[in-house]
Amino acid sequence: MTVNDETHWTNKETRDAWNANAAFWDEKMGEGNDFVNLLQWPAILRLLDPKAGQYILDIATGNGLTSRRLASLGAQVEAFDFSSKLIKLAKAKPNPESRITFRILDATDESALLSLGEHTFDSALCNMGLFDMADIETLFHALPKLLKPGAIFVFTLTHPAFNNASCVHVAEERDDQGEIKTVFSVKISRYMSPHLLHGLAIRGQPKPQLYFERPLQYYFNLAFQSGFVLDGFEECAFPAGAAQKNPLSWGGNYSEIPPVVAVRCRLSAAS
Ligand SMILES: C[S@@+](CC[C@H](N)C(=O)[O-])C[C@H]1O[C@@H](n2cnc3c(N)ncnc32)[C@H](O)[C@@H]1O
Repeated sequence: MTVNDETHWTNKETRDAWNANAAFWDEKMGEGNDFVNLLQWPAILRLLDPKAGQYILDIATGNGLTSRRLASLGAQVEAFDFSSKLIKLAKAKPNPESRITFRILDATDESALLSLGEHTFDSALCNMGLFDMADIETLFHALPKLLKPGAIFVFTLTHPAFNNASCVHVAEERDDQGEIKTVFSVKISRYMSPHLLHGLAIRGQPKPQLYFERPLQYYFNLAFQSGFVLDGFEECAFPAGAAQKNPLSWGGNYSEIPPVVAVRCRLSAAS
């Protein structure tokens, strides 16, 4: 597969932004924020079920936080990201027993992906990375060749229906049978058509980045066309009472609205 011109330029802009934001991201994210600790990682543990001795591919690893968590459970981890700055930061952190190999690799480059080794991985993970990628078709087509037959691919996303770049957070008051209550909700104005928007992963980051918004059916149909079946799915919301950075940020005030989804795809044993 070759990527078209638009993908080429949006991919380049995305890489430049992640390099520009790498130090800021690493400082703020460290070994995980509330999104990672309360929403993504518990769902990843349930869906991926990582085991000691497994060989796991960590796609778009960022500063390597999920790789270190997998390695601490005894897995061997092959981790990549296309940001050289993030990979440098990841390599500078502890890597007990050298269980993690970090490399610079672009997920839109099929031959680079296949150089990781065909039918070698027990499973693959992409935590909060696919909506940051200019093209995910190349990756989905390569994964069945990288994974062992019957293996799984787990990915998490900002929920395409409730937490995309068009999302507006709303607080309103209503009279609930004599008691004045604040109602927190989100307004979504774009969902169906894949589109690009600039945004901030973390407030205050040096450079806005591109978000590649795609509806759920885009992800699922791509997975099905690539030979996967969907066999695990979680929508993850903060528990009521979870900390709020401010009343309108994601947290306990939005316990009925999931900002994250976690998906498990499985190859058929024959593929
Ligand atoms: C939101 S961060 C997630 C990082 C990490 N998985 C985590 O859980 O902290 C998204 C990552 O996707 C990476 N990325 C975006 N497009 C990529 C591509 N084409 N190939 C490899 N990495 C890419 C970025 O460099 C960034 O590190």
